[in-house]
Amino acid sequence: MKRALTPGTFDPITVGHLDVISRAAQLVDEVVVAVAVSAKKKPLFSLEERVALVEEATRDLPNVRVEPFDELLVDFARRMDAQAVVKGLRAITDFEYEFQMTALNYQLDKELETLFIMSTPQHMYLSSSIVREIASLGGDVSQFVSPCVEEALRRRYAELGKTGR
Ligand code: PNS
Repeated sequence: MKRALTPGTFDPITVGHLDVISRAAQLVDEVVVAVAVSAKKKPLFSLEERVALVEEATRDLPNVRVEPFDELLVDFARRMDAQAVVKGLRAITDFEYEFQMTALNYQLDKELETLFIMSTPQHMYLSSSIVREIASLGGDVSQFVSPCVEEALRRRYAELGKTGR
């Protein structure tokens, strides 16, 4: 059984993430979307919310499941019996950070392969932080995220607006 992890913070999941997840799902038997706690990033959505949104957004992909994790990626991969990590690579700005993480993960576990899928051109510019910014300013994010995520963003920023945060 070939199993790959697609790790990330997914705050929130975008169509760019979905593109990488669905393309990875065509290459292996099972993809585990690994949703990191990423407490240092102070995510807009809680871990439970992010997992639920990824589950909803990937509902039509039968060989994709979603798991939260709060440990080293290499340890989680071992626990999940995954042989590879698959990540999306956007413009050159991603490269240095991804290069560092790949090199460190390789040092930590030489059995775990990291593979990159190039973003499709229309997703090159897309990021969760850009989506949050557009949504926080009342912009239309429907082309960047699934309807469930669009609704969650609308509700979250309405709540934050009410409390003045
Ligand atoms: O979507 P992000 O925030 O860019 O994802 C980063 C993530 C979650 C993939 C990365 O921070 C990670 O792998 N965290 C788990 C902890 C870990 O293994 N850190 C060492 C990486 S060298």
